[in-house]
Amino acid sequence: MKYFFYIVLLTLSSQCRAENNCNNVSNKNINHVKETLAENFTMPYHLTVDPNTGTLFFSYSTGNVEEPFHSVYLNLKSKEQGIIAGINGGFCHAVDVKNGVVYLGGGDGIYQFDYKTKSAHFLNITENSIWQMFFKDGLYYTVYPKEGAYLYKNGVVKKLKQVENSNTLLIAVDNNHNIYVANSSGLFVNDKENKITHIGDYVINGFTADRNGNLYFSSPSQIYSIVDKTTVKKIENKIEGKTVVEISPDSLYGVAVDMDGNFIYATEDSVIRLKPDGNDCP
Ligand SMILES: *[C@@H]1O[C@H](CO)[C@@H](O)[C@H](O)[C@H]1NC(C)=O
Ligand SMILES: *[C@@H]1O[C@H](CO)[C@@H](O)[C@H](O)[C@H]1NC(C)=O
Ligand SMILES: *[C@@H]1O[C@H](CO)[C@@H](O)[C@H](O)[C@H]1NC(C)=O
Ligand SMILES: *[C@@H]1O[C@H](CO)[C@@H](O)[C@H](O)[C@H]1NC(C)=O
Repeated sequence: MKYFFYIVLLTLSSQCRAENNCNNVSNKNINHVKETLAENFTMPYHLTVDPNTGTLFFSYSTGNVEEPFHSVYLNLKSKEQGIIAGINGGFCHAVDVKNGVVYLGGGDGIYQFDYKTKSAHFLNITENSIWQMFFKDGLYYTVYPKEGAYLYKNGVVKKLKQVENSNTLLIAVDNNHNIYVANSSGLFVNDKENKITHIGDYVINGFTADRNGNLYFSSPSQIYSIVDKTTVKKIENKIEGKTVVEISPDSLYGVAVDMDGNFIYATEDSVIRLKPDGNDCP
C-alpha cells in the first residue's frame, strides 16, 4: 500500500513538472509555499505592489478612533517595513508605474509617497475621505461615505460620468478600458459602449492588477481572476495540497500580485506571499 502511494505521488509530480510554467500565477498544478511578510496587523487592507521598487503597501486597523487606519510600506527584498508618516488615516494605495508615483489615500485626501523620507506629502487633489484608488490612464478613486467615483488626470478631477448615478465603492480598469465597479449589489462592468453589465453578486474587498494589467479581485472567501468582460475564474493555487480558501476560510482581506507574478494576500492579521515550491520550480 505504502509503495503504491509513493508510485502514484512520483507519477503525479513528474506529470506536474512536465506541464509547469512557473511564471504563470494561475497555474494551479504548482504547489506553493507560504511566506509570511507581515504579522500582527489587524485586517490588512488595500494591498498594492510598486513593481519599480519591489515595495508592498497595505493599511491596517489601529483600533484608535482618532486615526482608525495606518498605511505601511514593506520592501519585498530587504523586508524593511514601517508605518508611513505625514498622512492622516492612510488607507489605500495606487501606483503610476510609468511615472514612478505612489499615491496614498487617507481620511482627508490624496498624498504622494516619498521613498527617501518614507513619508507622505499632501497633493491637494481633493479633501474627501478616500476609500480606494486604481491607476490606469489616470488616477481613479472612490470616496467615502458618499461612494462616488472620480478620475484625476492632467491635473483635473472629474466625476466618472459612466457611473455617476450609482454608488461605487471599488473600481478597476482593464487593458481594453472597460471599467469594473463593485458595490453592495455586486460586480459590474461598464464597457466602451457605455453598457453596464452585472457580472455577479460577489462581495469584493479588493481589486488588483498584475504587471501585464490582468485584473484580479478578492472576496472574504476566494481570489478570482477577471478573464474578460463576462468571465470570472477562481484562483486555486495549492499550498501543501490545499487552496488558500481551505487554509483561511472566510478570512481574506485583499490580494495583490508581486513583480514576479506571485500572489500576496491578507488574512485577519497577516500578509502572506505564495511562492512556487522550490521542488516544483527549481
Ligand atoms: C496558466 O495556467 C492555467 C491553468 O493551468 C492555464 O489555463 C492558462 O492557460 C495558463 N496561462 C498561460 C499564460 O500560460
Ligand atoms: C506577533 O504576536 C505574537 C503573539 O503576541 C508574537 O509571538 C509574535 O512574535 C509577534 N510577531 C511579530 C513579528 O511581532
Ligand atoms: C488646497 O487648495 C485649495 C484651493 O483649491 C486651497 O483653498 C487650500 O488652502 C489648499 N489646501 C492646502 C492644504 O494647500
Ligand atoms: C452598483 O453599481 C451598479 C453599476 O454602476 C448600479 O447599476 C447599481 O445600482 C449600484 N448599486 C447600488 C446599491 O448603488
